[in-house]
Amino acid sequence: MPELILPLCHARFLPKHEWSAVGNLRSDNLLRKAFFETAAPCTADLVLVLEIVMGIGLLVGARLARKGRFRQHAWCQSTIVVLNLAVVAVMMIPSFRVHVLPRVPAKLGKAYYALATTHAAFGTMTEIAGLYILLSAGTSVLPEKLRITKYKLWMRSVLVLWWVVLLLGVATYTRWHVPHLFRK
Ligand code: HEM
Repeated sequence: MPELILPLCHARFLPKHEWSAVGNLRSDNLLRKAFFETAAPCTADLVLVLEIVMGIGLLVGARLARKGRFRQHAWCQSTIVVLNLAVVAVMMIPSFRVHVLPRVPAKLGKAYYALATTHAAFGTMTEIAGLYILLSAGTSVLPEKLRITKYKLWMRSVLVLWWVVLLLGVATYTRWHVPHLFRK
């Protein structure tokens, strides 16, 4: 099957007419079973695991706040927001610029692009909101007027949004790297 020899680093299951954009075949790049037995490159698997761990970490952090352990809560949530910023900047934005942006808005009717674009839009909002909470609550860099007053509402909303984005990320991963789910 031609799908089985798509290059590993580009093994995103594009519609057939877009295969030419995928690049040249390289023997070290052949499709192989990664630890999820998908066609995903190792970096996507790593990002997926990291993001799931961070999503769970935020839930643990929220629980710390409920128990009144606010210092640990602050460290936990801040670390995750900053680490996520690094993952998004290093892994996701470059991938989005190469694989999605050139085909938006023309191909937004296709799940491949629609999922990634929705995920990226909500992901951007969520990360910015997380950083805003971090700056408001954990530093004095923002002027008094710009600081959050309703912390609980903000934190709960970002936690819910974060999980929506995480699930959209999992959906994007599935659409891009688990082809047999989508094969007719
Ligand atoms: C709270 C913020 C975010 C979370 C929790 C998150 C989570 C995830 C997860 C779990 C995946 C699947 C792993 C993968 O396929 O690599 C993923 C993939 C992806 N995300 Fe995000 N994401 C966030 C923000 C963003 C932003 C801001 C953008 C773009 C501007 C973005 C663009 C992408 C793209 C293009 C992929 C597919 C990457 C690939 O497989 O090559 N994400 N994200």
